[in-house]
Amino acid sequence: MEETERILESAKLTEEDRVENSLRPQSLDDFIGQDKLKENLKVFIEAAKRRQEALDHCLFYAPPGLGKTTLSHIIAKEMGGNLRMTSGPVLERVGDLAAILTNLSEGDVFFIDEIHRMNHLVEESLYPVMEDFELDIIIGQGPSAKTIKLPVPRFTLVGATTRAGLLSSPLRDRFGIIGHLDFYGIKELVHIVKRSAVIMNVEIDEDAGDEIARRSRGTPRIVNRLLKRVRDFAEISGGKITRLIAQKALDALEVDNAGLDKMDRLLLTTIINKFGGGPVGVDTLAVAISEESDTITDVYEPYLIQSGFIARTARGRVVTEAGFRHIGVEPPKNSQRELL
Ligand SMILES: Nc1ncnc2c1ncn2[C@@H]1O[C@H](COP(=O)(O)OP(=O)(O)O)[C@@H](O)[C@H]1O
Ligand SMILES: [Mg+2]
Repeated sequence: MEETERILESAKLTEEDRVENSLRPQSLDDFIGQDKLKENLKVFIEAAKRRQEALDHCLFYAPPGLGKTTLSHIIAKEMGGNLRMTSGPVLERVGDLAAILTNLSEGDVFFIDEIHRMNHLVEESLYPVMEDFELDIIIGQGPSAKTIKLPVPRFTLVGATTRAGLLSSPLRDRFGIIGHLDFYGIKELVHIVKRSAVIMNVEIDEDAGDEIARRSRGTPRIVNRLLKRVRDFAEISGGKITRLIAQKALDALEVDNAGLDKMDRLLLTTIINKFGGGPVGVDTLAVAISEESDTITDVYEPYLIQSGFIARTARGRVVTEAGFRHIGVEPPKNSQRELL
């Protein structure tokens, strides 16, 4: 079963994954924030359970680190099914998909991360599966080819993507539940820091938690990552995380007071210094900072836009006045820019 092994490759755990898993909320009540989405999911899960049916297929879209994978774990747990995980790029052929589907049981959750990166043949073969729980398999070639319909147990597909716009509409339309996760507010991030600190068994002052939360780009994964690093700094000076230690650690990590890291600042200074503050197209920008366009669009840009440091215009990305000020450069006074 060389095929199955290759699919499972992606499930191999790194040290980082292990820590991430230990901090993952296990239930919806444990999942902090995203109240509207959570309330809706609670109703849908409860209703499906009462009808003794599988939950409708769910699609979650959000920038990285906001809780998409976590929600798939929680759904499997709340529905009492097993979780099978894979990702779009790993499902290279229809056979890869068939191998997983035929091993599912009724009520399982099948999670496809980066579902927008699925091969289109695989994607198309997923349509009848999602709709009728039947996988069409073509046997033979040419005029004698036959399609056989393989029944698939009623399961819940959970898809995750960084941008809903990247999904084809036939795929998107087959999800009964579509949820968007927003960046988290400071209060929620503080809550997450405290929860993680308890799990990691480290003492943290109230205002230190606040400091870490403020510098986490609205993202739980970054909260947890910074907390781990700050704990290292605390360990060599007594153990407890105070605001002073948090500040020292975050400064050493080059995370500034708006939560921007080196890469975010490079992006801003590049638009300012090489492109006069913009507008500049994302592909040009990608070349200038040696990064992939998709990474800029999916990872860096959403938070910079949300914080009001850059704006997206029809002609490309521009740094706003607040963006200029943040970098410490006086914004130009020409008419075009004042419109921002
Ligand atoms: N709502 C939340 N409450 C508490 N912790 C969260 C929440 N969302 C995410 N996390 C933490 O952030 C980490 C990253 O979340 P994850 O679900 O892997 O993000 P994504 O799949 O969207 O990239 C997880 O380890 C989890 O501990
Ligand atoms: Mg994930």
